[in-house]
Amino acid sequence: MKTLLALWGLSVMLSAAEGGALYQKCAACHGAKGEKAALGKSEVIAGWKADKTLDALKGYKAGTRNTKGMGAIMKGQTATLSEGDMKTLSEYIAGLK
Ligand code: HEC
Repeated sequence: MKTLLALWGLSVMLSAAEGGALYQKCAACHGAKGEKAALGKSEVIAGWKADKTLDALKGYKAGTRNTKGMGAIMKGQTATLSEGDMKTLSEYIAGLK
């Protein structure tokens, strides 16, 4: 039981670290804490619910989301992300404030 708990703790830590690593390339536009309107256009995404962010990222990747006329930029950003990456990122962003 202890081992299981330790493993669970470790995986939570690892996914937070992975989220931070994945988020690096987003920070240039969205801010280190998700506090900026990217390119003066996007909404501030810090603290967005993980579901909402995941939906948005999937939409950009699929090329179906374009709320500010700059969806093509986000399509490029999400092109190489797997669904797992997008989930990890969404959870990471939900924790930003
Ligand atoms: C080159 C600048 C740039 C980078 C880098 C970037 N974004 Fe964006 N992001 C934008 C812009 C511009 C929009 C608004 C797009 C539109 O018209 O819908 C946006 C929109 C979003 C939205 C939806 C916000 C809204 O207004 O609806 C989310 C969530 C998001 N980005 C997450 C990310 C994540 C996660 C990454 C890193 C993988 C990332 N972005 C990297 C510029 C960027």
